Amino acid sequence: MDLIIRRAALVRSTGLVDIGIEAGRIAAIEPHLNASAREEIDANGSLVTAPFVDAHFHMDATLSYGLPRVNASGTLLEGIALWGELKPELTQEAIVERALQYCDWAVARGLLAIRSHVDVCDPRLLAAEALVEVKRRVKPYLDLQLVAFPQDGVLRSPGAFENLKRAIALGVDVVGGIPHFERTMADGAASVTLLCEYAAEHGLRVDMHCDESDDPMSRHIETLAAETHRLGLHGRVTGSHLTSMHSMDNYYVSKLIPLMREAGVSAIANPLINITLQGHSDTYPKRRGMTRVPELMAAGIDVAFGHDCVMDPWYSLGSGDMLEVAHMGLHVAQMTGVDAMRACFDAVTRTPARILGLEGYGVEVGCHADCVVLDARDPIEAIRLRAARTAVIRRGKVVSRSPAVRATLALEGRPAEVDFRIQR
Ligand code: FE2
Repeated sequence: MDLIIRRAALVRSTGLVDIGIEAGRIAAIEPHLNASAREEIDANGSLVTAPFVDAHFHMDATLSYGLPRVNASGTLLEGIALWGELKPELTQEAIVERALQYCDWAVARGLLAIRSHVDVCDPRLLAAEALVEVKRRVKPYLDLQLVAFPQDGVLRSPGAFENLKRAIALGVDVVGGIPHFERTMADGAASVTLLCEYAAEHGLRVDMHCDESDDPMSRHIETLAAETHRLGLHGRVTGSHLTSMHSMDNYYVSKLIPLMREAGVSAIANPLINITLQGHSDTYPKRRGMTRVPELMAAGIDVAFGHDCVMDPWYSLGSGDMLEVAHMGLHVAQMTGVDAMRACFDAVTRTPARILGLEGYGVEVGCHADCVVLDARDPIEAIRLRAARTAVIRRGKVVSRSPAVRATLALEGRPAEVDFRIQR
């Protein structure tokens, strides 16, 4: 074997196992693997998981915080205006450099697959070209899937549909949209039809920013689900954000969720962003603005949590840590039951992997040897501690290591060290 991880706890089984890795794939998982390897890692009862996956990100804007100025109000609309100010000043080299730096952070956090939207409204397609280049360069260590995103509206922004098609021809993978940003509800619905028909014609996946608003009458997800069903796109379409659902009438939602389920539309909530941007103009009570995560999950719909932004015009914080995203999602959705907390871990690992259609994902024999050793014994402890990634493995090679978090104490009669785990 090339590598053996000994005494690993897995997400969905009890008892510790050894994981044998050969030629970039998982070759064996057994309680006591009778084999030797060039390298061994002793997990010592720690959780070994498949990598984190971020199903919703904006890599063309990441790490641009403060350029050309900061978002003073902290609102979505100032963020969009600020992005408009920054766009003319962007260079391909700067986008590539910032994106590569973010991918370094991602790898160190065990985040090895990202779906990033890329703005295609600028006819120069500077950002699309830059991110196609980044996708090529990070391929050995990170799967980057790109969405052609007409930030200013595919119908509202002149030439945006042509630009979107050119971006797809350049190597962008997925068709994006933003129906709630079109001029009218009718234009929003027409944009959904146009983009879904294009995706169906070309065999592409769809991921739209959909109803990222507190307006309960923003109902483009209904059109998206209906068009998915009509065009036979089941399992290939995602509605991102869906925040208006938070404010919708309950009777309407009781019809909407089964329609989404029937169409096989998945959902992505972005808890860090939507808890800060939505409900911003409310007085009190203030709406949380995140979509109805537990209700969608209970209906059997795939729901992932995305990071959306890190240090950009919309969000000043973040560091590529999907456990921080899961932690916030758990709190905002009040998903504090045992199964619910585990579902929050799935929402940053295997559920987004399914949404992206990643091949060979998982800690199972035959899968790619991509995994993360966490300084935690189970998914709930991992979320609670935002546990250190003591080893990150890609195709059988260790690509990042971090020290476990330990603090020394100088207290009479007390232990010399704490690790923040409950002693079992
Ligand atoms: Fe987004």
